[in-house]
Amino acid sequence: MQGQSVEKNARTAIYPGSFDPITNGHLDILSRALKIFDKIIIAVLRNGSKEPLFSVEERMSMIKQVTSGMNVVIESFDGLLADYVRQKETNIIIRSLRATSDFDYEFQMAVMNSQMNREMESIFLMTGKEYFFLSSSVVKEIASRGGDVSWLVPPVVAEKLKAKLRSSGSNNGEE
Ligand code: COA
Repeated sequence: MQGQSVEKNARTAIYPGSFDPITNGHLDILSRALKIFDKIIIAVLRNGSKEPLFSVEERMSMIKQVTSGMNVVIESFDGLLADYVRQKETNIIIRSLRATSDFDYEFQMAVMNSQMNREMESIFLMTGKEYFFLSSSVVKEIASRGGDVSWLVPPVVAEKLKAKLRSSGSNNGEE
């Protein structure tokens, strides 16, 4: 919130995203971030431009299950990331770079965010090469066509995906 001073902590960072759902690629970034920061706030975007498969609560619940034992706090946010960061105890956000194609978009976002919040810093971490082409959409696409996603997401997420797609009638896979 503007005008309110929040004590900032350089040992904490925010990892924002849609996480619809969280994948092994996100967890890879998270474990790298926890080598640098003591605590990570995972910030799930509430009303993004993408039509989500899972509700925010479902996404947060999956994140909670797959990050148990890690020093993370799971929150949701709405509106601009730059405004959300202003209210938090850190100015640092973690973004991930997969293939070089991420760079243009990330560069634009980092510049725009720092224009809107001068205190904000974006830190970019590279994913492991096995996750270069992974995205939540790819996972949903494979799962919805009955493909195996157990190598892309934690078991609990694979299960939730199966159940969600079954209930929405979009799983073409053999059971
Ligand atoms: N491993 C696997 N997948 C990854 C990944 C990784 N390391 N890093 C990113 N991805 C995936 C994401 O799951 C996402 O997949 P999807 O498009 O299929 O859902 C895709 O790559 C893009 O990731 P990302 O750029 O992080 O998008 P996002 O939707 O997860 O998060 C926000 C974007 C929430 C950070 C951004 O939209 C935001 O800040 N919104 C708030 C409004 C705002 O302030 N806008 C900024 C204006 S400058």
